[in-house]
Amino acid sequence: MSNSQKSSSHSPSSISIIRPDDWHLHIRDGAGLKSVIPFTARQCGRAIIMPNLTPPVTTTRRAQTYQQTIFDALGKNSDFQPLMTLYLTDSTPAEEIKTAINSGIISAVKLYPAGATTNSDAGVTDIKKCYQTLEMMQKLGLPLLVHGEVTHQDIDIFDREKSFIDQRLELIVRDFPELKVVFEHITTSDAVDFVIESSSYVAATITAHHLLMNRNDMLVGGIKPHHYCLPVLKRETHREALMKATASGNNKFFMGTDSAPHSKHNKETACGCAGMFTAFAAIELYAEAFDNADALDKLEQFSSLNGPLFYGLAVNSDKITLQREKWTVPESYKFGDDVVIPLRAGQTINWKIVS
Ligand code: NCD
Ligand code: ZN
Ligand code: ZN
Repeated sequence: MSNSQKSSSHSPSSISIIRPDDWHLHIRDGAGLKSVIPFTARQCGRAIIMPNLTPPVTTTRRAQTYQQTIFDALGKNSDFQPLMTLYLTDSTPAEEIKTAINSGIISAVKLYPAGATTNSDAGVTDIKKCYQTLEMMQKLGLPLLVHGEVTHQDIDIFDREKSFIDQRLELIVRDFPELKVVFEHITTSDAVDFVIESSSYVAATITAHHLLMNRNDMLVGGIKPHHYCLPVLKRETHREALMKATASGNNKFFMGTDSAPHSKHNKETACGCAGMFTAFAAIELYAEAFDNADALDKLEQFSSLNGPLFYGLAVNSDKITLQREKWTVPESYKFGDDVVIPLRAGQTINWKIVS
């Protein structure tokens, strides 16, 4: 892995930061949800909950039911806030946006190009079909979250993010200049440049795994199914561009783990699912990435300040403390009736939350 090796002689041995938020999280449903939600609730004040369930969370009503399931799983004593999202389809009515705003529980709408990723079959086939709905979102200030990859067979998987910028995102941003857009889990220098050059309405989330790994970590020495996610890991130059943006202090970039648990048998199979499970050590993995880049002093801004600023919310009121302490990640975690293999299973992480 492209982490670890560096000397830590002049870095601090502990760091206190305002409690982070996860602006991109998958927790699934049912028994799996109960297994994974405590990890995020322990670290984060809030999380944007992705709507790609089967069936997807396409209406405010469904989001209300889903949120109640999350509250039930958390129990009465939890302060954790699940921020709900709607799954955009070709036929999401503009009226649904009004309903969403009036409910007070919907924080954003998620665009999955149909076929781009896990449970995206009901996603958008042609963004023009959604223009009235986007118009309403722009008017009412509801952000659009974007899985930014094209799906055409003739576009190389490593180029799908860049193609999405050129063929789709530039048009959306041009046609809706005051629509808040979060380019989710960006993986390329092209995406970094696009976000930096766009207006203040455009921001991006960056995962820990895209800061810590490149495509060699998935392909060299044998295929690693647990390092397969979408957008797929890219070459080192892109990882470096992401790290530079993340550590730059630019407030357009913020934490979104894209922790996406799948059961072991759904990953270790002939056609494995995309997604990495990182929520169990989200902030610790980011701390390691920032530490590797000698930028621990910028972690809090990325993990705890920039997200609320973009979403127009207050920052969390308490702090967490991380200590430089190596610990070994379990080989697996319980995931409903099954298990999920965490990132770094059986290996070490250099940072640990102590309070
Ligand atoms: C996510 C999932 O499993 O839901 N998978 C992934 O590889 N990131 C979907 C997504 O965020 O694209
Ligand atoms: Zn995605
Ligand atoms: Zn995701």
